[in-house]
Amino acid sequence: MAIDKKFIDQFKDVSSKAALAASYLVGKKDKIAADQAAVDSMRFELNKIDMNGKVVIGEGALDEAPLLYTGEFLGTKNGPHFDIAVDPVEGTNFVANNLPGGIAVLAIGEKGNLFNAPETYMDKIATSKIDHGLIDLDYPLEKNIKNLSKFKNKNITSITVCILDRPRHKPTIDKLKELGVNIKLITDGDILGALYVSDPNYKVDMFLGIGGGPEGVLAASALDAYDCHFQGRFIFDNDKDIREAKQMGITDLNKKYELNEIVKGDSIFCASGITNSDVLKGIIHEEGKYISETLVTHKSSNFKEILKSVMSINE
Ligand code: FBP
Repeated sequence: MAIDKKFIDQFKDVSSKAALAASYLVGKKDKIAADQAAVDSMRFELNKIDMNGKVVIGEGALDEAPLLYTGEFLGTKNGPHFDIAVDPVEGTNFVANNLPGGIAVLAIGEKGNLFNAPETYMDKIATSKIDHGLIDLDYPLEKNIKNLSKFKNKNITSITVCILDRPRHKPTIDKLKELGVNIKLITDGDILGALYVSDPNYKVDMFLGIGGGPEGVLAASALDAYDCHFQGRFIFDNDKDIREAKQMGITDLNKKYELNEIVKGDSIFCASGITNSDVLKGIIHEEGKYISETLVTHKSSNFKEILKSVMSINE
């Protein structure tokens, strides 16, 4: 069953209010406080919604996170059963340092349909819609780039790849340079990094590399609405992560997940700008009111729009 369209506005309000709460801490050099403000707001607002919501991706286990912990039930308990994935501040460094790219994010799926991602890294690859089997996490980088350039009928030197600027990506970045690909390096925020492939206006042909697993699931839910290609593989490289993965029922630790295994059925995705970015304007404070921009997708109604909210501060 599809998620009712009436929830679009309700979840958009949740993410825009979380963005507003974090916006008071932009440039305050305190990423924990910014995150906490958004967490508190998100939890408060989600609890008002007529639903039986369960956090499947949250701020951590109950002993690490008293609010929005993974497994927490939210909502009035009057309404449909939803899985909820949240990243109240994605790009905490951006917000703490008043840099572009801070967003508040959440995704809603039908019960049991959002992958319960462990708090580990994920190796990811994303492009716009392509022919089946053309791009794959398991192919050598050169093959993926050549296949994409052929498919898009573009020279390799006109292909742009977005990747997090991390030492772990040095071999990949060196290879991209050798191939003559344009590299768009991002210092943080790989949900937006992945989202760039959804619209030619952002001029990114491929997103790849290792970032947070929870961020992978959130990005996948938006990319699903755009019919994009996404694959992810969790990385379990220490005993604790391996133990936790097994407790979560993950038996094949090397499994490559296709988008439709990460997000099933219908979903709503909302990302609200805290600071400005290529995709969204950050919160604008004006006398007595604030203006926010939220990218909202709703898969079943094919809804994909950036919505503006003007709200009074006391709302
Ligand atoms: P935070 O906002 O939680 O700090 O995450 C930012 C981020 O850049 C994510 O977008 C990305 O998935 C992850 O951190 C990468 O982790 P790391 O900084 O350890 O490479």
